Amino acid sequence: MTITDAPSADELRHHMADRLVREGCIRSKPWRAAFLAIPRHEFVPAFFVRSQGRLHEYSQGDPAWLAAAYSDASLLTQFDQDGTATSSSTQPSLMAQMLEALDVRDGDTVLEIGAGTGYNAALLSHRLGADRVVTVDVDPHLVAAASGRLRQAGYEPTLVAGDGMAGYPERAPYDRLLATCGVGRIPTPWRDQLRPGGVIVANIGCGIVRLVLAADHSAGGRFLRGLATFMNARPTPDTVGTPAGRLVQPLLTWSGETREITLPAVLDAPGAQFLSSLLHPQVKEFALGNGDQEVRCLFDPESSSWARITMTGAGVMTARLDFGGPRDLWAEREPLLAHWRDAGRPGHERYGLTVGPDGGHSLWLDEPDGVSWQLPE
Ligand SMILES: C[S@@+](CC[C@H](N)C(=O)[O-])C[C@H]1O[C@@H](n2cnc3c(N)ncnc32)[C@H](O)[C@@H]1O
Repeated sequence: MTITDAPSADELRHHMADRLVREGCIRSKPWRAAFLAIPRHEFVPAFFVRSQGRLHEYSQGDPAWLAAAYSDASLLTQFDQDGTATSSSTQPSLMAQMLEALDVRDGDTVLEIGAGTGYNAALLSHRLGADRVVTVDVDPHLVAAASGRLRQAGYEPTLVAGDGMAGYPERAPYDRLLATCGVGRIPTPWRDQLRPGGVIVANIGCGIVRLVLAADHSAGGRFLRGLATFMNARPTPDTVGTPAGRLVQPLLTWSGETREITLPAVLDAPGAQFLSSLLHPQVKEFALGNGDQEVRCLFDPESSSWARITMTGAGVMTARLDFGGPRDLWAEREPLLAHWRDAGRPGHERYGLTVGPDGGHSLWLDEPDGVSWQLPE
């Protein structure tokens, strides 16, 4: 039997970079060089990885820590009292795709929203020079820790503790803006602080959009391939009414009106999730097991409207709909599913977003003047 040494951090980093190149997430030499140069493990001394519904803990010194730090996982580094993750080092494959989509040129300046561990700011600093990178995080403790780790890695970008929704006007205008926390709308200061022709890459709903700023101050562009959801920007708006989590049991038993429906597409189809995350962002959606049957629930905390969809035939798209409250959530959802089915089940990359000069957001399929929807305020 041969005992082999565990791979070193350098070897693991090479494997990670090679994998990202092979999978098409890294497409250019400078980003490959950055992923090879920056020691991710030094930015994440302790973290959790969610796998198969469980959280696995890793910390420096554990035998499995180093390999986990170079896995293609989101490394959760902080939680709130309810157990919701509030900071992480994003999955490298997603980070690489967003960095490539940012399409930076030598000499560009970048504003990053969501400094987190500082790892992404280190990648940006390697690529552009730390004096061209500003990164903002709402949590001053994270900023202090990230600052120390960045310095240790040899980079001193500008780190700001504050609400990234306001950008950072002191160093504007920027050539690029990268947001690594999710937003419901592209904040106006982001457009205000970008040069015309500048690029924003951000998570909105469960898509990642790449917007180019036009001279009239509008911004438009397409979504990247694939679903992705970052932790939402804090503070999130107060949830009005009853939190959905407390309604799990009642939602299974409430009675209201009932009717038979035919689903145009399954509710958890990627296209359905994508469209509803953008067009019905307030509506919480979850699946509940009820014996052998799965029941999907929609709930709008603001109006306390609800819908319960119970599949009635295996493999057939018929279901029983129970619903109540002032908003008919199924009547709102059904046309989105029908659109997606009738359009040939398009991937997210066929959708795009335009943010008008007045801040109105419109989602479109294929072309800005094609089928489109206004995003709710
Ligand atoms: C996915 S993590 C960022 C990952 C980070 N880029 C890295 O490389 O480690 C999201 C971060 O967004 C931060 N955040 C949340 N709301 C924010 C806000 N309003 N302004 C700035 N940062 C915010 C969180 O504190 C969290 O650290």
